[in-house]
Amino acid sequence: MNPVIEAKHLSKIYGKGATAFLALSDINLTINPGESVAIVSKSGSGKSTLMHCLALLDTPTSGTLKIDGENASKLKSRKLNRLRNRRFGFVFQQFFMNSNETVLENVLLPLKISGTRRKERKRLAFEAIETVELADKARSKSKNLSGGQKQRVCIARAIVNNPKVLFADEPTGNLDSATGDKIIKLLFDLNHDKGVTLIIVTHDEDLAALCDRRIRITDGKIIVDESVKHTTRPATRTNSKTKPANTPEAKKAKENKKKGVRK
Ligand SMILES: Nc1ncnc2c1ncn2[C@@H]1O[C@H](COP(=O)(O)OP(=O)(O)OP(=O)(O)O)[C@@H](O)[C@H]1O
Ligand SMILES: [Mg+2]
Repeated sequence: MNPVIEAKHLSKIYGKGATAFLALSDINLTINPGESVAIVSKSGSGKSTLMHCLALLDTPTSGTLKIDGENASKLKSRKLNRLRNRRFGFVFQQFFMNSNETVLENVLLPLKISGTRRKERKRLAFEAIETVELADKARSKSKNLSGGQKQRVCIARAIVNNPKVLFADEPTGNLDSATGDKIIKLLFDLNHDKGVTLIIVTHDEDLAALCDRRIRITDGKIIVDESVKHTTRPATRTNSKTKPANTPEAKKAKENKKKGVRK
């Protein structure tokens, strides 16, 4: 099977002449289908630049990039856009939705771009919205949602085209830990249940530890690339603390709720 992403000798230089800045230097990276990869490092070290190059959102200055065995460095922009739209999903805060449009309209957008038939679009959009548990907000304007709900809309929009690879830049940034855990669970459910490859940029070491692989970069260079294959579904921080729903306590609480008993 082809790697989903294969980067060889990638470099990225911003600017020219005296102000030229080497943001990525000789990056060699092979990512296989179904992997979960965390890119970790301190601010300004090149994480977003790397992510944008791998995701075909930015052009590296030199080096080659293959997506599913296809040489992306040689593609014209129309083909590149189609490749990106079909294979990749993005959970980026700066790519945030149109806040005056409804959740449904935002989630429909990638399907319109990919030319999916009108009837099919609605079915797929509702399916994605249900996956992120926002069915009750489908007709709400995005600007009226909470931060965690907005992040879930981003995920719905990212998964609606059934991507092979999901790129997430700080998916839990600015969220409280319980909401962050919900987002993490959603991402890893996609990885485990649908084999979606995850590439996550994060400052959060707990989140990085849940991934099969951690890549650390400093000054645009990969300095650590370590793999720990998780054989079981990783428990998120909340899950590990939350009692499962079938504990005696949970059962009793359910019964009391039915009887209308208050604590
Ligand atoms: N358009 C640009 N022009 C010039 N320099 C840039 C540009 N974009 C990024 N840089 C520089 O490239 C380096 C890497 O930036 P990048 O955004 O990839 O960092 P990062 O690791 O994602 O940081 P953060 O954790 O703060 O998001 C930084 O020093 C930044 O100042
Ligand atoms: Mg960044």
